[in-house]
Amino acid sequence: MRRYITVILSTILIALIILLIIDTRELKNLSDSRARESEGNNNGIKIGLSMGTLKEDRWLRDRDIFVARAKALGTDVIVQNANNNDEDQVEQVNYLLSRGIDVLVIVPNDREKSADAVEAAKKAGVKVIAYDRLVLKSNVDLYISFDSQEVGKLMAQALVDKVPRGNYLIINGDPSDNNTSLLKKGYDDVLAPLAKAGEINIIAEEWAEDWMSEYAFNITEKYLQKGTKIDAILAADDMLAAGAIRALSEYKLSGKAMVTGQDADLTACQRIVDGTQFMTVYKPVDRLAEEAVDMAVKLAKGESISVPNTIYDGKYDVPYYVLQPVAVDISNLDDTVIKDGFHNYDEIYGR
Ligand code: BGC
Repeated sequence: MRRYITVILSTILIALIILLIIDTRELKNLSDSRARESEGNNNGIKIGLSMGTLKEDRWLRDRDIFVARAKALGTDVIVQNANNNDEDQVEQVNYLLSRGIDVLVIVPNDREKSADAVEAAKKAGVKVIAYDRLVLKSNVDLYISFDSQEVGKLMAQALVDKVPRGNYLIINGDPSDNNTSLLKKGYDDVLAPLAKAGEINIIAEEWAEDWMSEYAFNITEKYLQKGTKIDAILAADDMLAAGAIRALSEYKLSGKAMVTGQDADLTACQRIVDGTQFMTVYKPVDRLAEEAVDMAVKLAKGESISVPNTIYDGKYDVPYYVLQPVAVDISNLDDTVIKDGFHNYDEIYGR
């Protein structure tokens, strides 16, 4: 009986000790997060981040890094996602302004319609940064982005090096995204002379509304159904690449036509390893997001920002902070995307 009581008492004691440990840990977590919160409000600056979409993986990353950087600087961020709806985006910006933001950082869904949002911000005395995508004719205070013209050039150059002769299909992104035009400028510079010389044959050039993968699937399928031979597909991003590759695989042609993309999405990197996607363009968006926050804080403090470049928005030359993209295929995947920790080795290879 005595042994029995001793066992019960020691079990109760152990349970109490475990509970105490858990409780202390929870209290510590709570006080840590309170400390972080109070740190997070210490410079009194509020940024409104208006995102045209969060559909592609990269935007989630942009958002998360942006918010984390702001927090580290003690700056508040309110994020809104317009889900590819232009009217909603303008409405959301008005909401952000009503919340008293000091700076608006906008990823426009439509390069023209979003000018209304910029105008509203300017009227309220709020500085505006166009993030990754330019707003036309609105004289934003800063445009920060990867060089999209260079992205187009990198895609085209990689394709012509690999497929110097053959049938090319071009699948552009949404026509209302200014990056779509910049990409086109970039790839046209490389492809047009070769098409003119009869080296390559551009079967067609099509546009995918809202950058939807489904369109890329339908476009590719349309040509495959007609029996058109496709040697190369210039797909403007990794989501479009995914759609095109899905169509190719239905015709048992994945890996046979060389497909480009951009963003270095995890699934695109996996497809590069599988041999179904030829290349992607890696844009280290962590840097973009962090620089954008730093610039936004400077603008909010009334400090001037000096960047060496400008870009014409159709009416004004606006300050342009430009970052350089990197072409990635199987030969340099490890030395770029993995080396930077953008994705880790096991995520890409260890499936
Ligand atoms: C961005 C790409 C992105 C695409 C679709 C473009 O403006 O530059 O990185 O994949 O939008 O959201």
